[in-house]
Amino acid sequence: MKNMKNIVQLFVVAVIGLTTYSCYHDKLPEPIVEEEVIIVDNVSFKDDIQPIFTQNCINCHNGTTAPNLTAGNSYAALTNGNYVTPSDKAGSVLYKTLTGNGASQMPPSLPLEQAKINLVGQWIDQGALNN
Ligand code: HEC
Repeated sequence: MKNMKNIVQLFVVAVIGLTTYSCYHDKLPEPIVEEEVIIVDNVSFKDDIQPIFTQNCINCHNGTTAPNLTAGNSYAALTNGNYVTPSDKAGSVLYKTLTGNGASQMPPSLPLEQAKINLVGQWIDQGALNN
């Protein structure tokens, strides 16, 4: 009888152990999310970048505050105003404002999500094309 109790206890411990162990393993694949964000070939100014400006910047940058980031005006404003240095995100005022590193933080209240900042950085590093 005592043996039986021991076997039951052992079984319970084994089940708890296995459950905990499998939960631990379920959590392992998480870092893959980071790769999803990083691999973006051929970022499009029109389809990827302008929507970020339209959503987050044009409340203020609509002609009164430079650069004008409204659709149709933003590319010329960024390149003519030297806010972007093609293929050099670290040297680009636009990127510095998004990271808040070397220029005033933009948007001033709350930084963009990192994925959006990365996208702008990749667009610059891919030549800052009007694509
Ligand atoms: C709440 C208003 C507001 C929002 C939203 C805003 N900006 Fe600005 N931005 C300003 C003002 C005001 C200035 C000029 C004064 C300054 O540099 O702080 C400015 C300046 C800038 C400059 C020029 C900085 C320089 O050093 O010459 C850039 C580039 C810029 N913003 C980009 C952006 C981008 C990109 C967004 C959206 C992701 C954005 N801003 C959102 C108000 C805003």
